[in-house]
Amino acid sequence: MDKFRIRFFSAINQILSLSFKANKRMKNIAVIGSGTMGNGIAHVFAQYGYQVSLIDIAEEPLKKAMVTIEKNLDRQVTKQLITDTTRKQSLENIRPFTSVEAGVTNADLVIEAATENADLKLKIFKDLDSFCKPDTILATNTSSISITKIASVTKRPDKVIGMHFMNPVPVMKLVEVIRGYNTSDNVTSTIMQLSKMLEKVPVEVNDYPGFVANRILMPMINEAIYSLYEGVAGVHEIDTVMKLGMAHPMGPLQLADFIGLDVCLSILHVLHDGFGNPKYAPCPLLVNMVQAGHKGVKSGSGFYQYAPGSKALLVADRFK
Ligand SMILES: NC(=O)c1ccc[n+]([C@@H]2O[C@H](COP(=O)([O-])OP(=O)(O)OC[C@H]3O[C@@H](n4cnc5c(N)ncnc54)[C@H](O)[C@@H]3O)[C@@H](O)[C@H]2O)c1
Repeated sequence: MDKFRIRFFSAINQILSLSFKANKRMKNIAVIGSGTMGNGIAHVFAQYGYQVSLIDIAEEPLKKAMVTIEKNLDRQVTKQLITDTTRKQSLENIRPFTSVEAGVTNADLVIEAATENADLKLKIFKDLDSFCKPDTILATNTSSISITKIASVTKRPDKVIGMHFMNPVPVMKLVEVIRGYNTSDNVTSTIMQLSKMLEKVPVEVNDYPGFVANRILMPMINEAIYSLYEGVAGVHEIDTVMKLGMAHPMGPLQLADFIGLDVCLSILHVLHDGFGNPKYAPCPLLVNMVQAGHKGVKSGSGFYQYAPGSKALLVADRFK
C-alpha cells in the first residue's frame, strides 16, 4: 500500500474512533412511551449495546412492548440479520419502568416517544428537566410538535432536539434530526453521530411545523382520505393507484392505518395551526374515525381490518 493510502486510511480510522469515543460516553438511554415507536427505539438502542430504560405509565403497555420487541428480535434472527447471542443480550439490555423519575436518573440521553399531544409533551419535558442530570440531552420523537416550544419549558433549550425515527424503527434507515431554535451545534452533531452508530441515516432539518417528512406526507394522506370521503374511489382502488402508479411500497390509506389515525390527525392539526392554511384542514372522515376509536392497526380497524395473527389486507366492512 502506498504512503498516501496508508495516511488516508489512518485519518479515516482516527475520525471513526473519535466519533466512537464521543458516543461511547453515552451509555444509558431512557425511552419514554413504549407504544409503536418507543418499543422500536428501545429495541434498536439495546441491539447496539446501550442500556435502555423503557418507561410507560402502566405495566400493561410495557409487557406488550417487551412481547413485540422479542418477536421482532426473533424475526431478525430468522432472517440471519443478528445472532441469537445479540438477541439475548438485547433483551437483557432493556429494563422497564413505570416511574419516569426512576427510569431517567442515570440517562445520558432521553428520547420521548409518548402520545402526540403538545400539553402532555410539555409536562413530560418540564419533569425531565428537573429529574435528569444537567448534561443529559433531551430528545423527542414527535412527528410535528415544535422542538423550540418543547425546549422552552426546560432550562436547557440548547440540549433539546428532535430525533424523529420512522416506523418500523428496526427496519427504517432515516432519522430526521430537528434543530430547535436554540439547539447547540455540539448537541446536533452528537445526535447525528449517534444515529450513524445505530446504522441509521440522519438528515438535519430546521424546526417548522411538520419538519420535512410530515409536511409532505400528511397532505398526501389527507387528500387520499378526502378522495374516499367524496366517493372518488374505494380504499383498495386509491391505494392501488398510488402503489402501482407512483411505485409507493404501500398505499396512503394503509400507511395511515400503520402510522395510527390519531397520530395523523394530531399532525394535521399542528400543520393547520402552524401555517394557518386551510389546505391542511383534516378531512371530517378522519376526525370521525379517530373519535369512534378506529385508529388503524393498533386498534384493530381503520381503513382496513386487522385480525390478530393474520397478514391478509382486508378492507374494513364499512368501506366495502
Ligand atoms: N406511529 C408512527 O408511525 C410514528 C412515526 C414517527 C413518530 N411518531 C411519534 O412518536 C410518538 C409516539 O407515537 P406512537 O405511534 O408510538 O404512539 P402510541 O400511541 O403507539 O404509544 C404512545 C405510548 O406513550 C405512552 N404514554 C402516554 N403518556 C405517557 C407518559 N406521561 N409517560 C410515559 N408514557 C406515556 C402510552 O401509554 C403509549 O404506550 C408520537 O410523538 C408520534 O407522533 C409516530
